[in-house]
Amino acid sequence: MHKLIINGGKALKGEIKTSGSKNASLPILFSSILADEPLVLSNIPNTSDVSTTIRLLMDIGGEFILESNGDMYVDSSQIKNLVADYKIVKTMRASILALGVMLAKYGKAKVSLPGGCAIGTRPVNLHLKALRELGAEIEIKNGYIYASANGLVGTEIYFDRITVTATENLIMAASLAKGTTVIHNAAQEPEITDLCKCLNSMGAKISNIGTSTLTIEGVTNLKGVKYSVCSDRIEAGTYLVAAAITRGSITINNICHQSMRSVLGKLIETGADIKTKKNSISLDMKGRRPKSVNIKTSTYPNFPTDMQAQFTALNTISDGYSTITENIFENRFMHVPELSRMGANLSLEGNTVICKGVESLTGTNLMATDLRASASLVLAGLIAKGTTTIERVYHLDRGYETIEEKLKLLGADIERVQD
Ligand code: EPU
Repeated sequence: MHKLIINGGKALKGEIKTSGSKNASLPILFSSILADEPLVLSNIPNTSDVSTTIRLLMDIGGEFILESNGDMYVDSSQIKNLVADYKIVKTMRASILALGVMLAKYGKAKVSLPGGCAIGTRPVNLHLKALRELGAEIEIKNGYIYASANGLVGTEIYFDRITVTATENLIMAASLAKGTTVIHNAAQEPEITDLCKCLNSMGAKISNIGTSTLTIEGVTNLKGVKYSVCSDRIEAGTYLVAAAITRGSITINNICHQSMRSVLGKLIETGADIKTKKNSISLDMKGRRPKSVNIKTSTYPNFPTDMQAQFTALNTISDGYSTITENIFENRFMHVPELSRMGANLSLEGNTVICKGVESLTGTNLMATDLRASASLVLAGLIAKGTTTIERVYHLDRGYETIEEKLKLLGADIERVQD
């Protein structure tokens, strides 16, 4: 197993390029099942969740070629095995996205139930309810979802709560359904907008993209396209916090700042000087200690839960008291005890973490737990006095492409070693 060793205390400086968005790449890869021809995708990040998705697609009969320019050729137009097996689903919950596409294209699917995970119970009841409303018959047996439909039929769907992957599952299923589907209370995350744009270029008819009411006119077939996936706003946000926590000055390229307003607003509150251009964001702390910020996570365009752990790390060494309230997942505070072991002054009350900023953290041995919690430990390690060792780095590799290489480019003292 790999671990990261960080010698903290270096102010980050320099420029890096954002990778493609993990959370946009996954549904777009699954959308290849809907198409009658191959997709050629660019800007897909080399993360382990992407590899897991490709493994799942190949497991069911898809073909995949990584071209020399980094583009991915994905042909899932003729899959043979309509089963998303537990052995793959248990490693990545987003595998539930196989359900909508298999049902829509082949009228049948067997997908393992994902089960709980480190950040919450994360049920899939809303995916199933909405697919039933499109006409699917769904039964749960032996830990698997068995779904069938004699042609899905468009209808009005109202999501009781805003959910990202259930919205994506429905959009993809409705794209090949008969008639019109209207999704009310849809999630509006930029990754959903990216999926909709890709589907429309494949021939889907989705309108009101980017709003909470999506209209999808079903079509009979979708074609292959070349599509470039949007950049990863959470990865970009993580590096911006890395610069803020080390009182540094960096520029992130290949990123659209419009999708990051809530995060940039909070960074400005910490005292960061932020400058944006069409495809880049620069942050300069001018050597100053950050000020603490209060945060409540919510759905897009509000502050993302996927940046909560990183800002918790930032608050630990910032000037003042702060509260961070997690409103999306019930158990997304696995980083709190680990940050406390580094000397952070944190206490948890319900879904709120209360923090009094301390002057410094000290390095120690830490255990990565889930993706964003792990990122927050790296950030804390960058500012801690002495050496921080982070084990179970595979959690980070799910969503960050070569994190240590990018941090090294910015001047961090960080190494990946094998146990
Ligand atoms: N929920 C239900 N029932 C459902 C679906 C969701 O109760 O059927 C609840 C969840 O338990 C949660 C809330 O609704 O409390 C929101 O969950 P959502 O469905 O939006 O989350 P998700 O689609 O499973 C995606 C991202 C997550 C990100 C969340 C919130 C992907 C592959 N995953 O998860 O990304 O945190 O949306 O924005 O897009 C990450 O990248 O680290 C990550 C966890």
